[in-house]
Amino acid sequence: MRPTILIFTIVTWVGLNGPALAADIPFPAGFLWGTATAAHQVEGGNSGNTWWDWEQVPGHIKNGDKSGLAADHWNRFASDLDLARAINCNAYRFSVEWSRIEPADGVFDQAAIGHYREVLAACRQRRLTPMVTLFHFTLPRWIGALGGFESPVVVDRFARFSRRMGQELGDLVDLWCTENEPVVYALASYGNGVFPPGKTDVGVALRVYARLIEAHGKAYRALHDSDRIDADGDGRPALVGIAKHLRVFDPYSPYSTPDILAARALDQLFNRVFFHACTRGEARISGPAPGAPVESIHDLGLRGTMDYIGVNYYSRDIVKFNPASPLMADLTVNQGSPTSDLGWEIYPEGIYRTLMSLKRYNLPVFITENGVADGPDKLRKAFIRDHLHWIAQAISDGVDVRGYFHWSLMDNFEWAEGFWPRFGLYRVDYGTQARTLTEGGRFFSEVAGKNVLPGPDCRR
Ligand code: FCB
Repeated sequence: MRPTILIFTIVTWVGLNGPALAADIPFPAGFLWGTATAAHQVEGGNSGNTWWDWEQVPGHIKNGDKSGLAADHWNRFASDLDLARAINCNAYRFSVEWSRIEPADGVFDQAAIGHYREVLAACRQRRLTPMVTLFHFTLPRWIGALGGFESPVVVDRFARFSRRMGQELGDLVDLWCTENEPVVYALASYGNGVFPPGKTDVGVALRVYARLIEAHGKAYRALHDSDRIDADGDGRPALVGIAKHLRVFDPYSPYSTPDILAARALDQLFNRVFFHACTRGEARISGPAPGAPVESIHDLGLRGTMDYIGVNYYSRDIVKFNPASPLMADLTVNQGSPTSDLGWEIYPEGIYRTLMSLKRYNLPVFITENGVADGPDKLRKAFIRDHLHWIAQAISDGVDVRGYFHWSLMDNFEWAEGFWPRFGLYRVDYGTQARTLTEGGRFFSEVAGKNVLPGPDCRR
Protein backbone atom coordinates (compact mmCIF):
# COMPACT_ATOMS: atom_id res chain seq x y z
CA MET A 1 0.00 0.00 0.00
CA ARG A 2 1.34 3.48 -0.85
CA PRO A 3 2.23 5.52 2.29
CA THR A 4 -0.34 8.26 1.60
CA ILE A 5 -3.09 5.64 1.27
CA LEU A 6 -1.90 3.93 4.43
CA ILE A 7 -1.94 7.19 6.40
CA PHE A 8 -5.37 8.05 4.99
CA THR A 9 -6.66 4.62 6.02
CA ILE A 10 -5.31 4.95 9.57
CA VAL A 11 -6.64 8.47 10.03
CA THR A 12 -10.05 7.44 8.74
CA TRP A 13 -10.13 4.36 10.93
CA VAL A 14 -9.27 6.31 14.05
CA GLY A 15 -11.73 9.03 13.11
CA LEU A 16 -14.53 6.51 12.75
CA ASN A 17 -13.71 4.50 15.81
CA GLY A 18 -13.90 7.05 18.56
CA PRO A 19 -11.38 9.20 20.33
CA ALA A 20 -7.78 9.00 19.16
CA LEU A 21 -5.99 6.59 21.46
CA ALA A 22 -2.54 7.33 20.16
CA ALA A 23 -1.49 10.21 22.36
CA ASP A 24 -1.89 11.48 25.89
CA ILE A 25 -5.06 13.53 26.20
CA PRO A 26 -4.87 16.67 28.35
CA PHE A 27 -7.96 17.90 30.19
CA PRO A 28 -8.80 21.60 30.41
CA ALA A 29 -6.92 23.70 32.97
CA GLY A 30 -8.79 23.88 36.26
CA PHE A 31 -10.69 20.65 35.55
CA LEU A 32 -12.20 19.24 38.77
CA TRP A 33 -11.21 15.70 39.69
CA GLY A 34 -13.33 14.40 42.49
CA THR A 35 -15.29 11.58 44.01
CA ALA A 36 -18.92 11.56 45.11
CA THR A 37 -20.62 10.17 48.19
CA ALA A 38 -24.05 10.48 49.80
CA ALA A 39 -24.63 10.94 53.52
CA HIS A 40 -26.77 7.88 54.18
CA GLN A 41 -24.48 5.61 52.19
CA VAL A 42 -21.29 6.49 54.02
CA GLU A 43 -21.85 8.37 57.29
CA GLY A 44 -23.45 5.74 59.50
CA GLY A 45 -25.93 6.37 62.29
CA ASN A 46 -28.53 8.20 60.21
CA SER A 47 -31.35 6.97 62.38
CA GLY A 48 -33.67 9.96 61.88
CA ASN A 49 -34.66 9.34 58.27
CA THR A 50 -37.19 7.17 56.46
CA TRP A 51 -34.50 4.94 54.95
CA TRP A 52 -33.41 3.86 58.42
CA ASP A 53 -36.95 2.70 59.21
CA TRP A 54 -37.25 0.98 55.82
CA GLU A 55 -34.08 -1.02 56.45
CA GLN A 56 -35.48 -2.52 59.64
CA VAL A 57 -38.11 -4.47 57.69
CA PRO A 58 -36.94 -7.92 56.55
CA GLY A 59 -36.94 -8.30 52.78
CA HIS A 60 -36.37 -4.65 51.97
CA ILE A 61 -32.58 -4.80 51.68
CA LYS A 62 -30.60 -7.61 50.13
CA ASN A 63 -29.03 -10.00 52.64
CA GLY A 64 -30.93 -8.21 55.41
CA ASP A 65 -28.26 -5.50 55.49
CA LYS A 66 -28.82 -2.27 57.40
CA SER A 67 -26.86 0.92 56.85
CA GLY A 68 -25.76 0.89 60.53
CA LEU A 69 -22.29 2.37 60.78
CA ALA A 70 -21.93 2.32 56.97
CA ALA A 71 -18.37 3.49 56.24
CA ASP A 72 -18.29 5.54 59.47
CA HIS A 73 -17.59 8.65 57.42
CA TRP A 74 -19.33 10.83 60.03
CA ASN A 75 -16.38 10.16 62.34
CA ARG A 76 -13.69 9.53 59.74
CA PHE A 77 -14.33 12.38 57.34
CA ALA A 78 -10.94 14.03 57.96
CA SER A 79 -8.91 10.91 57.19
CA ASP A 80 -11.23 10.11 54.28
CA LEU A 81 -10.56 13.55 52.83
CA ASP A 82 -6.84 12.85 53.27
CA LEU A 83 -7.41 9.74 51.17
CA ALA A 84 -9.16 11.82 48.52
CA ARG A 85 -6.23 14.21 48.48
CA ALA A 86 -3.80 11.28 48.32
CA ILE A 87 -5.29 10.27 44.97
CA ASN A 88 -4.91 13.81 43.64
CA CYS A 89 -8.51 14.89 43.94
CA ASN A 90 -9.14 18.62 43.90
CA ALA A 91 -12.89 18.33 44.52
CA TYR A 92 -15.37 16.37 46.64
CA ARG A 93 -19.12 15.94 46.19
CA PHE A 94 -21.10 14.91 49.26
CA SER A 95 -24.59 15.37 50.66
CA VAL A 96 -25.73 16.91 53.91
CA GLU A 97 -28.27 14.83 55.80
CA TRP A 98 -31.50 16.77 56.16
CA SER A 99 -32.70 14.62 59.10
CA ARG A 100 -29.63 15.52 61.16
CA ILE A 101 -29.83 19.22 60.37
CA GLU A 102 -33.58 19.63 60.84
CA PRO A 103 -34.63 16.78 63.13
CA ALA A 104 -38.09 18.28 63.66
CA ASP A 105 -40.22 20.70 61.63
CA GLY A 106 -38.49 24.09 61.81
CA VAL A 107 -35.97 22.96 64.46
CA PHE A 108 -32.40 23.29 63.22
CA ASP A 109 -29.57 21.52 65.01
CA GLN A 110 -26.56 23.84 65.23
CA ALA A 111 -24.25 20.97 66.22
CA ALA A 112 -25.08 19.08 63.02
CA ILE A 113 -24.63 22.25 60.98
CA GLY A 114 -21.31 22.74 62.78
CA HIS A 115 -20.27 19.25 61.75
CA TYR A 116 -20.83 19.99 58.07
CA ARG A 117 -18.97 23.28 58.45
CA GLU A 118 -16.04 21.23 59.77
CA VAL A 119 -16.27 18.90 56.77
CA LEU A 120 -16.28 21.88 54.43
CA ALA A 121 -13.35 23.52 56.23
CA ALA A 122 -11.47 20.21 55.96
CA CYS A 123 -12.19 20.20 52.20
CA ARG A 124 -10.87 23.74 51.88
CA GLN A 125 -7.73 22.92 53.91
CA ARG A 126 -7.01 20.10 51.47
CA ARG A 127 -7.79 22.22 48.41
CA LEU A 128 -10.84 20.11 47.60
CA THR A 129 -13.58 22.19 45.99
CA PRO A 130 -16.81 21.02 47.62
CA MET A 131 -20.03 20.31 45.78
CA VAL A 132 -22.90 19.94 48.24
CA THR A 133 -26.05 17.94 47.52
CA LEU A 134 -29.15 18.77 49.56
CA PHE A 135 -31.41 15.81 48.74
CA HIS A 136 -29.83 12.46 48.00
CA PHE A 137 -32.72 10.01 48.46
CA THR A 138 -33.23 10.42 52.25
CA LEU A 139 -35.96 12.36 54.01
CA PRO A 140 -36.34 13.18 57.70
CA ARG A 141 -38.89 10.93 59.40
CA TRP A 142 -41.16 13.93 60.07
CA ILE A 143 -41.10 14.80 56.36
CA GLY A 144 -42.09 11.21 55.62
CA ALA A 145 -45.02 11.67 58.01
CA LEU A 146 -46.10 14.75 56.04
CA GLY A 147 -46.24 12.56 52.92
CA GLY A 148 -42.77 13.16 51.49
CA PHE A 149 -42.71 14.72 48.03
CA GLU A 150 -46.25 13.49 47.43
CA SER A 151 -47.29 16.42 49.55
CA PRO A 152 -47.11 19.99 48.20
CA VAL A 153 -46.16 21.35 51.66
CA VAL A 154 -42.90 19.43 51.45
CA VAL A 155 -41.84 21.51 48.46
CA ASP A 156 -41.85 24.58 50.72
CA ARG A 157 -40.12 22.74 53.57
CA PHE A 158 -37.35 21.80 51.14
CA ALA A 159 -37.06 25.41 49.98
CA ARG A 160 -36.77 26.54 53.62
CA PHE A 161 -34.08 23.93 54.26
CA SER A 162 -32.21 25.03 51.12
CA ARG A 163 -32.35 28.68 52.17
CA ARG A 164 -30.97 27.78 55.59
CA MET A 165 -28.14 25.81 54.00
CA GLY A 166 -27.26 28.79 51.82
CA GLN A 167 -27.12 30.99 54.92
CA GLU A 168 -25.20 28.54 57.08
CA LEU A 169 -22.74 27.11 54.56
CA GLY A 170 -22.64 29.64 51.72
CA ASP A 171 -19.32 31.14 52.80
CA LEU A 172 -17.71 27.73 52.20
CA VAL A 173 -19.74 26.44 49.24
CA ASP A 174 -20.16 27.73 45.71
CA LEU A 175 -21.29 24.52 43.97
CA TRP A 176 -24.76 23.35 44.97
CA CYS A 177 -26.70 20.35 43.80
CA THR A 178 -30.31 20.62 44.93
CA GLU A 179 -31.33 17.04 44.15
CA ASN A 180 -29.75 13.76 43.19
CA GLU A 181 -31.48 11.73 40.47
CA PRO A 182 -35.07 12.90 40.98
CA VAL A 183 -36.54 10.56 38.36
CA VAL A 184 -34.75 7.52 39.81
CA TYR A 185 -36.03 8.50 43.25
CA ALA A 186 -39.61 8.97 42.04
CA LEU A 187 -39.70 5.70 40.11
CA ALA A 188 -37.94 3.61 42.75
CA SER A 189 -39.96 5.02 45.66
CA TYR A 190 -43.40 5.18 43.98
CA GLY A 191 -43.16 3.15 40.75
CA ASN A 192 -41.53 -0.18 41.56
CA GLY A 193 -41.41 0.38 45.31
CA VAL A 194 -37.83 -0.65 46.07
CA PHE A 195 -37.16 2.59 47.98
CA PRO A 196 -39.31 3.91 50.83
CA PRO A 197 -42.25 4.44 51.03
CA GLY A 198 -42.45 1.41 48.72
CA LYS A 199 -45.46 2.45 46.65
CA THR A 200 -46.19 0.95 43.23
CA ASP A 201 -48.29 3.46 41.37
CA VAL A 202 -46.85 5.04 38.23
CA GLY A 203 -49.31 7.93 38.45
CA VAL A 204 -48.06 8.84 41.92
CA ALA A 205 -44.46 8.46 40.72
CA LEU A 206 -45.10 11.00 37.97
CA ARG A 207 -46.72 13.40 40.43
CA VAL A 208 -43.74 13.09 42.77
CA TYR A 209 -41.44 13.73 39.84
CA ALA A 210 -43.34 16.92 39.04
CA ARG A 211 -43.07 18.00 42.71
CA LEU A 212 -39.33 17.37 42.66
CA ILE A 213 -38.98 19.60 39.60
CA GLU A 214 -40.98 22.30 41.32
CA ALA A 215 -38.92 21.82 44.50
CA HIS A 216 -35.71 22.23 42.52
CA GLY A 217 -36.92 25.57 41.16
CA LYS A 218 -37.73 26.88 44.62
CA ALA A 219 -34.49 25.57 46.10
CA TYR A 220 -32.57 27.18 43.24
CA ARG A 221 -34.03 30.59 44.07
CA ALA A 222 -33.60 30.09 47.83
CA LEU A 223 -29.92 29.25 47.39
CA HIS A 224 -29.23 32.19 45.15
CA ASP A 225 -31.04 34.50 47.61
CA SER A 226 -29.20 33.20 50.64
CA ASP A 227 -25.70 32.44 49.37
CA ARG A 228 -24.16 35.77 48.46
CA ILE A 229 -20.61 34.88 49.46
CA ASP A 230 -18.14 33.95 46.78
CA ALA A 231 -16.10 31.19 48.46
CA ASP A 232 -13.82 30.53 45.48
CA GLY A 233 -13.15 34.09 44.42
CA ASP A 234 -14.31 33.42 40.86
CA GLY A 235 -16.92 36.15 40.97
CA ARG A 236 -19.90 33.79 41.43
CA PRO A 237 -21.19 33.02 44.92
CA ALA A 238 -23.30 30.06 43.80
CA LEU A 239 -23.69 27.71 40.87
CA VAL A 240 -26.83 25.66 41.36
CA GLY A 241 -27.83 22.55 39.42
CA ILE A 242 -28.85 18.94 39.92
CA ALA A 243 -27.22 15.53 39.50
CA LYS A 244 -29.33 13.93 36.79
CA HIS A 245 -29.16 10.24 36.09
CA LEU A 246 -28.96 10.02 32.29
CA ARG A 247 -29.15 6.76 30.38
CA VAL A 248 -28.95 5.78 26.75
CA PHE A 249 -32.09 4.06 25.46
CA ASP A 250 -31.51 2.17 22.23
CA PRO A 251 -34.18 0.18 20.37
CA TYR A 252 -33.80 -3.58 20.42
CA SER A 253 -34.33 -3.62 16.67
CA PRO A 254 -33.26 -0.55 14.73
CA TYR A 255 -35.88 -1.55 12.13
CA SER A 256 -38.82 -1.84 14.50
CA THR A 257 -40.92 1.33 14.71
CA PRO A 258 -42.53 0.25 18.04
CA ASP A 259 -39.08 -0.37 19.57
CA ILE A 260 -37.84 2.99 18.29
CA LEU A 261 -40.89 4.85 19.60
CA ALA A 262 -40.69 3.12 22.98
CA ALA A 263 -37.01 4.05 23.29
CA ARG A 264 -37.82 7.66 22.41
CA ALA A 265 -40.62 7.85 24.95
CA LEU A 266 -38.33 6.60 27.69
CA ASP A 267 -35.62 9.02 26.66
CA GLN A 268 -38.14 11.82 26.89
CA LEU A 269 -39.46 10.84 30.31
CA PHE A 270 -36.19 9.84 31.88
CA ASN A 271 -33.63 12.16 30.28
CA ARG A 272 -35.36 15.28 28.97
CA VAL A 273 -38.34 16.43 31.03
CA PHE A 274 -36.37 17.99 33.88
CA PHE A 275 -34.22 20.04 31.53
CA HIS A 276 -37.20 21.19 29.50
CA ALA A 277 -38.86 22.40 32.67
CA CYS A 278 -35.80 24.26 33.93
CA THR A 279 -34.86 25.83 30.62
CA ARG A 280 -38.28 26.50 29.03
CA GLY A 281 -40.30 26.74 32.21
CA GLU A 282 -42.74 24.02 31.21
CA ALA A 283 -42.91 20.29 30.73
CA ARG A 284 -45.34 17.47 30.21
CA ILE A 285 -44.62 14.35 32.22
CA SER A 286 -46.42 11.29 30.96
CA GLY A 287 -45.98 7.57 31.24
CA PRO A 288 -45.26 5.86 27.92
CA ALA A 289 -48.47 3.80 27.90
CA PRO A 290 -51.50 5.31 26.09
CA GLY A 291 -53.91 6.74 28.62
CA ALA A 292 -51.17 6.88 31.26
CA PRO A 293 -51.47 9.70 33.76
CA VAL A 294 -50.00 13.03 32.72
CA GLU A 295 -48.56 15.76 34.88
CA SER A 296 -48.07 19.16 33.33
CA ILE A 297 -45.74 21.81 34.61
CA HIS A 298 -46.29 25.40 33.63
CA ASP A 299 -43.75 27.95 34.58
CA LEU A 300 -43.75 27.91 38.42
CA GLY A 301 -40.76 30.20 38.11
CA LEU A 302 -38.71 27.37 36.69
CA ARG A 303 -37.31 29.01 33.60
CA GLY A 304 -33.58 29.60 33.95
CA THR A 305 -33.14 27.58 37.14
CA MET A 306 -30.13 25.57 36.08
CA ASP A 307 -26.61 26.98 36.17
CA TYR A 308 -24.96 23.69 35.25
CA ILE A 309 -25.97 20.17 34.37
CA GLY A 310 -24.72 17.36 36.58
CA VAL A 311 -24.56 14.02 34.77
CA ASN A 312 -24.71 10.71 36.59
CA TYR A 313 -23.90 8.21 33.85
CA TYR A 314 -23.69 4.47 34.39
CA SER A 315 -25.21 2.45 31.56
CA ARG A 316 -27.71 2.03 28.73
CA ASP A 317 -30.89 0.05 28.21
CA ILE A 318 -31.98 -1.87 25.15
CA VAL A 319 -35.67 -1.22 24.68
CA LYS A 320 -38.07 -3.82 23.32
CA PHE A 321 -41.70 -2.77 22.82
CA ASN A 322 -44.07 -4.67 25.07
CA PRO A 323 -47.64 -3.34 25.35
CA ALA A 324 -48.21 -5.41 28.49
CA SER A 325 -45.55 -3.58 30.51
CA PRO A 326 -46.35 -0.32 32.39
CA LEU A 327 -43.38 1.24 30.59
CA MET A 328 -44.63 -0.21 27.26
CA ALA A 329 -41.24 -1.86 26.97
CA ASP A 330 -38.91 -4.46 28.37
CA LEU A 331 -35.46 -3.21 29.21
CA THR A 332 -32.59 -5.55 28.51
CA VAL A 333 -28.82 -5.55 28.31
CA ASN A 334 -27.12 -5.47 24.93
CA GLN A 335 -26.18 -9.04 24.09
CA GLY A 336 -22.48 -9.76 24.32
CA SER A 337 -21.58 -6.49 26.06
CA PRO A 338 -19.49 -6.56 29.24
CA THR A 339 -21.43 -5.99 32.46
CA SER A 340 -20.66 -4.91 36.03
CA ASP A 341 -21.29 -7.02 39.14
CA LEU A 342 -24.81 -5.52 39.19
CA GLY A 343 -25.41 -6.67 35.61
CA TRP A 344 -25.32 -3.12 34.21
CA GLU A 345 -23.91 -2.92 30.71
CA ILE A 346 -20.53 -1.21 30.52
CA TYR A 347 -21.01 1.15 27.61
CA PRO A 348 -18.44 3.99 27.66
CA GLU A 349 -19.49 5.49 24.35
CA GLY A 350 -22.83 6.24 25.98
CA ILE A 351 -21.29 9.01 28.03
CA TYR A 352 -20.24 10.71 24.81
CA ARG A 353 -23.68 10.36 23.29
CA THR A 354 -25.21 11.66 26.50
CA LEU A 355 -22.90 14.66 26.64
CA MET A 356 -23.48 15.52 23.00
CA SER A 357 -27.24 15.41 23.58
CA LEU A 358 -26.82 18.16 26.21
CA LYS A 359 -25.11 20.59 23.87
CA ARG A 360 -28.42 22.22 22.99
CA TYR A 361 -28.76 23.58 26.55
CA ASN A 362 -25.49 25.46 26.29
CA LEU A 363 -24.67 25.02 29.97
CA PRO A 364 -21.54 23.93 31.81
CA VAL A 365 -21.53 20.24 32.67
CA PHE A 366 -20.06 18.26 35.53
CA ILE A 367 -19.96 14.49 35.56
CA THR A 368 -21.42 14.20 39.05
CA GLU A 369 -21.27 10.36 39.13
CA ASN A 370 -19.74 7.58 37.06
CA GLY A 371 -18.51 4.30 38.44
CA VAL A 372 -18.75 0.54 38.43
CA ALA A 373 -19.72 -2.22 40.86
CA ASP A 374 -16.60 -4.36 40.67
CA GLY A 375 -15.76 -6.58 43.64
CA PRO A 376 -12.69 -8.23 42.05
CA ASP A 377 -11.36 -4.79 40.90
CA LYS A 378 -10.80 -6.17 37.41
CA LEU A 379 -12.99 -3.73 35.49
CA ARG A 380 -12.49 -0.38 37.21
CA LYS A 381 -9.28 0.79 35.57
CA ALA A 382 -10.51 0.18 32.02
CA PHE A 383 -13.94 1.55 32.95
CA ILE A 384 -12.43 4.85 34.08
CA ARG A 385 -10.02 5.03 31.17
CA ASP A 386 -12.67 4.36 28.53
CA HIS A 387 -15.22 6.76 29.98
CA LEU A 388 -12.58 9.48 30.25
CA HIS A 389 -11.67 8.92 26.60
CA TRP A 390 -15.22 9.59 25.56
CA ILE A 391 -15.53 12.57 27.90
CA ALA A 392 -12.38 14.01 26.34
CA GLN A 393 -13.89 13.47 22.92
CA ALA A 394 -17.05 15.34 23.94
CA ILE A 395 -14.91 18.20 25.26
CA SER A 396 -13.04 18.39 21.98
CA ASP A 397 -16.43 18.36 20.21
CA GLY A 398 -17.54 21.42 22.13
CA VAL A 399 -19.23 20.26 25.37
CA ASP A 400 -18.17 22.42 28.31
CA VAL A 401 -17.34 19.63 30.77
CA ARG A 402 -15.74 21.11 33.88
CA GLY A 403 -15.19 18.16 36.16
CA TYR A 404 -15.46 14.44 36.81
CA PHE A 405 -16.66 13.00 40.15
CA HIS A 406 -16.15 9.27 40.37
CA TRP A 407 -18.70 7.22 42.29
CA SER A 408 -17.36 6.61 44.81
CA LEU A 409 -14.48 7.50 47.11
CA MET A 410 -14.97 4.24 49.00
CA ASP A 411 -17.32 1.28 49.12
CA ASN A 412 -20.63 2.07 50.77
CA PHE A 413 -24.25 1.12 51.44
CA GLU A 414 -25.81 0.66 48.01
CA TRP A 415 -29.46 1.28 48.94
CA ALA A 416 -31.71 -1.78 48.35
CA GLU A 417 -28.69 -3.85 47.35
CA GLY A 418 -27.02 -3.41 50.75
CA PHE A 419 -23.27 -3.61 51.14
CA TRP A 420 -22.26 -6.24 48.59
CA PRO A 421 -21.70 -4.01 45.49
CA ARG A 422 -18.25 -2.46 45.58
CA PHE A 423 -18.07 0.95 43.92
CA GLY A 424 -15.14 2.44 45.82
CA LEU A 425 -11.79 3.67 44.58
CA TYR A 426 -10.91 2.53 48.09
CA ARG A 427 -12.08 -0.91 49.23
CA VAL A 428 -13.64 -0.86 52.72
CA ASP A 429 -13.29 -3.72 55.16
CA TYR A 430 -16.53 -3.24 57.11
CA GLY A 431 -15.18 -5.29 60.04
CA THR A 432 -12.27 -2.94 60.70
CA GLN A 433 -13.23 0.09 58.57
CA ALA A 434 -9.79 -0.17 56.92
CA ARG A 435 -9.54 1.44 53.48
CA THR A 436 -7.34 0.00 50.73
CA LEU A 437 -6.65 1.64 47.40
CA THR A 438 -7.84 -0.35 44.35
CA GLU A 439 -6.09 -0.63 40.98
CA GLY A 440 -8.77 1.59 39.55
CA GLY A 441 -8.03 4.12 42.29
CA ARG A 442 -4.34 4.09 41.40
CA PHE A 443 -5.20 4.78 37.79
CA PHE A 444 -7.61 7.60 38.72
CA SER A 445 -4.85 9.10 40.86
CA GLU A 446 -2.41 9.08 37.96
CA VAL A 447 -4.86 10.83 35.64
CA ALA A 448 -6.00 13.38 38.22
CA GLY A 449 -2.41 14.13 39.25
CA LYS A 450 -1.33 15.00 35.72
CA ASN A 451 -4.70 16.30 34.44
CA VAL A 452 -3.91 14.06 31.48
CA LEU A 453 -5.35 10.77 30.31
CA PRO A 454 -2.37 8.66 29.32
CA GLY A 455 -2.16 7.19 25.81
CA PRO A 456 -2.42 3.49 24.97
CA ASP A 457 0.40 2.38 27.28
CA CYS A 458 -2.07 2.50 30.12
CA ARG A 459 -3.88 -0.46 28.54
CA ARG A 460 -1.15 -2.77 29.80
C1 FCB B 1 -26.69 6.29 41.69
C2 FCB B 1 -26.95 6.94 43.03
C3 FCB B 1 -25.85 6.71 44.03
C4 FCB B 1 -25.31 5.30 43.96
C5 FCB B 1 -24.96 4.94 42.54
C6 FCB B 1 -24.37 3.57 42.39
O1 FCB B 1 -27.89 6.08 41.00
O2 FCB B 1 -27.09 8.34 42.88
O3 FCB B 1 -26.33 7.03 45.30
O4 FCB B 1 -26.21 4.44 44.52
O5 FCB B 1 -26.10 5.03 41.74
